[in-house]
Amino acid sequence: MNKQLLVRNVPPDVCLWIDQQRNQHNMTQQEVVLSILDKAVEADIELKLPLFSGQPKLVEKTVSQSLPFTFIDLFAGIGGFRSALEKLGGRCRFSCEWDKYSQRTYEAWYGDVPHDDIRELKISDIPNHDVLAAGFPCQPFSIAGVSKRQSLGMAHGFKCVTQGNLFFQLATIIEAKRPAVLFLENVKNLKSHDKGRTWQVIQERLDELNYWIFDKVIDAAGWVPQHRERVYIVCFDKKAFPQKPPFEFPQTPGGNRPRLIDILEPCPDPKYTLTEHLWNYLQRYAEGHRAKGNGFGFGLVDPMGISRTLSARYYKDGSEILIPQGKGKAPRRLTPLECTRLMGFDEKKIVVSDTQAYRQFGNAVVPKVVEAVGKQIIKIMFWKLSQEESLFRRAPAKRKISA
Ligand SMILES: C[S@@+](CC[C@H](N)C(=O)[O-])C[C@H]1O[C@@H](n2cnc3c(N)ncnc32)[C@H](O)[C@@H]1O
Repeated sequence: MNKQLLVRNVPPDVCLWIDQQRNQHNMTQQEVVLSILDKAVEADIELKLPLFSGQPKLVEKTVSQSLPFTFIDLFAGIGGFRSALEKLGGRCRFSCEWDKYSQRTYEAWYGDVPHDDIRELKISDIPNHDVLAAGFPCQPFSIAGVSKRQSLGMAHGFKCVTQGNLFFQLATIIEAKRPAVLFLENVKNLKSHDKGRTWQVIQERLDELNYWIFDKVIDAAGWVPQHRERVYIVCFDKKAFPQKPPFEFPQTPGGNRPRLIDILEPCPDPKYTLTEHLWNYLQRYAEGHRAKGNGFGFGLVDPMGISRTLSARYYKDGSEILIPQGKGKAPRRLTPLECTRLMGFDEKKIVVSDTQAYRQFGNAVVPKVVEAVGKQIIKIMFWKLSQEESLFRRAPAKRKISA
């Protein structure tokens, strides 16, 4: 067998990374590559352990935007986190979602039925993982949710026992499993809710759990033709990352912004056109509001621009995003396929009713934004792995290399 090691066709960023390693560890390029391969052999070519457990580990695919990490998907919905993290090399080890229609979609799209109620989970059932992903329920924090709950005389925020406390459920899991990275998402209003106190409580708890915390409100409009602002929270375990990682959220992509027209179906089913009755009602309702100096009641979109935020209530009348169909014709709502594209999901078979599909997309996270943030997390994982002495601790003995 030819013992010669040739490193060919390696992407420039990987070459750069190898160069950095050889300088940092005073090794030859060959020694760096062989030490990584040694680790791969040690780990038996399969990623069985979390990357940051202090155990032998494998960097099987040294590509800057992909790494074989493990994650769990909590409050999984239809897997907005999962579809993005799998593209980055992540392997989902566990999911949890109690809604039976979302479970149906999740099973059809990813092959797993998520576990039910998060409050019923036994911690011992949750496997170890590198990244905990969770878009924890936002109803008690969102503006619509808060005003609706207030008008019904219901508690909101952490006072809402059934939903608000789910953050603390999450905290219990984090405390027990200590994932190296937390990747959370919520509505923008989370930060201002209850004069900032809700966010303060969340931060204090994450801080108490000993995590570095980074957060940013990101508008998905850079990735999909929809105005959708969400707060993304990325945390790193201070035990695994004693030095504060140089994490940065992604920049909004430059170039031409996505436009609604690019995601519209050419010949949608006529059933998505509003009935004259509903269209007349919406116009009268909007007129009434305009007369009182309030905003419009419906959102007729410009197909050359972007839409408003798709909400979980879109199934009701579709009034927040209406597609004009020319003079004299009532506008139509988006089709579920268009919602798939508007949210930036890959197009997969929809296995639930239109009502459920609208609700599921309206609740979901935009996978393209998750992917962009995920790439930034992976940079930190590489940064950490390259720093970890253990990766190179047992550098291979100098080998004879044939010329
Ligand atoms: C904001 S959505 C998250 C959507 C998800 N990120 C996605 O991309 O589809 C919150 C989800 O939490 C689920 N949920 C709420 N309470 C739950 C509980 N106690 N146990 C499990 N799932 C729950 C809801 O059914 C909902 O799908």
